[in-house]
Amino acid sequence: MDTWDAITSRRQVRSFTDESIPEAVLRLILEGARLSPSGSNRQPWDFVVVSDQDQKTRLSAAWQGAGFTAGAANVVAFVQPISDDERMALMNRFDLGQAALQLALVAADQGVGSGLAACRDQDLAREVLGLPQDRFVAILVALGFPADRPLKPIKNLDRRPFDEVVHFDSW
Ligand SMILES: Cc1cc2nc3c(=O)[nH]c(=O)nc-3n(C[C@H](O)[C@H](O)[C@H](O)COP(=O)(O)O)c2cc1C
Repeated sequence: MDTWDAITSRRQVRSFTDESIPEAVLRLILEGARLSPSGSNRQPWDFVVVSDQDQKTRLSAAWQGAGFTAGAANVVAFVQPISDDERMALMNRFDLGQAALQLALVAADQGVGSGLAACRDQDLAREVLGLPQDRFVAILVALGFPADRPLKPIKNLDRRPFDEVVHFDSW
């Protein structure tokens, strides 16, 4: 798949088949996140890949909108350091956002669906994943083969119009 097709094929996938993701494909998808750029190349991330059904089910209770992740082949928890420095915390969050998108695009390129979910209950996530106290889960990314329809470029993505969001030279 070329880059543009991966960008337009990626969509929020919330239902998955039972098929597991071949290990080589899963590792490639995770490489997409690992190779992502970050401020000063700090790479303020760790990725916990959950395959165990019991763990996935427990983790999916960490946010009311995360229930669908229990049905994914794998759930990747994007783990970020807790920082008292607000600027650093924001930068870290931005970096993890980039890594999450890069992971999602590599997944799309491989025909694997991805779905983001927030993680509200950090105590639960810390317990399920065995995280140290100085880390938290910035986002959960469910991975698996889409149950509804395969990933294909979407012509009319539900987005604000180009002329509304793009400002040339000044607002
Ligand atoms: C930071 C972030 C958090 C999100 N959290 C959730 C979530 O908790 N549950 C969910 O079902 N979708 C979640 N989404 C998915 C968005 O709702 C979805 O990406 C958006 O509606 C655009 O749809 P698309 O990804 O199919 O283009 C999240 C997306 C982002 C970027």
